[in-house]
Amino acid sequence: MADKPTHIHPIFDRILQRQDKETQLGQRAVVVWLTGLSGSGKSTIAQALERQLHQDGYFTKLLDGDNIRTGLNNNLGFSAEDRQENIRRIAETAKLFLDGGIICLCSFVSPTRAIRAMAREIVGAEDFLEVYVNAPLAVCEDRDVKGLYKKARAGEIKDFTGIDAPFEAPEAPFLELHTGTETLETSVQRLYDALKPRIGATQQD
Ligand code: ADX
Repeated sequence: MADKPTHIHPIFDRILQRQDKETQLGQRAVVVWLTGLSGSGKSTIAQALERQLHQDGYFTKLLDGDNIRTGLNNNLGFSAEDRQENIRRIAETAKLFLDGGIICLCSFVSPTRAIRAMAREIVGAEDFLEVYVNAPLAVCEDRDVKGLYKKARAGEIKDFTGIDAPFEAPEAPFLELHTGTETLETSVQRLYDALKPRIGATQQD
């Protein structure tokens, strides 16, 4: 770990505040944090939710595992340490969007309670909505959209979440979506309805 930087002079007191941005955008910013197994439907839900929010006049940003891992975090793998650093950077990034008044949707396995607690701490508890995208492992493995479970079972991928790396279910999420049994439309609608009071009405309402 590098030493803490010195001779840094942040200018937080002179920059425009988050509330100025929120007023301009006509919304209240928040971080929606989707956690769940690979293949549980996080990205699909996040994409559909973002489209819906966009249509209704909200300003959003979607951060997604596969995208972030090809760019910002392309030097990280799936060891416990790398996953922690992955989530740390993502949470810091989400906070930047939050400070810009933007509704930030984050879709990451984020497999342990400790990792999600760190993300919550970085973002700030009052702005962090944890959503558990809960499909049983058997369902995710059966779907195997990316063919990764098959590879993990064959030992071609090590430390795969749910197979030979842990996934700890959230204990008290803001919302739990049962993507093994409910339709995509139902999951997205339930999330949208739960979110609405938190993000405020747009001019279109
Ligand atoms: S996290 O654990 O660090 O939060 P992240 O959400 O960024 O993971 O990336 C997960 C995605 O990477 C999965 O959806 C899957 O496509 C891919 N992946 C590749 N290897 C692994 C692995 N060992 N464990 C989990 N996901 C993996």
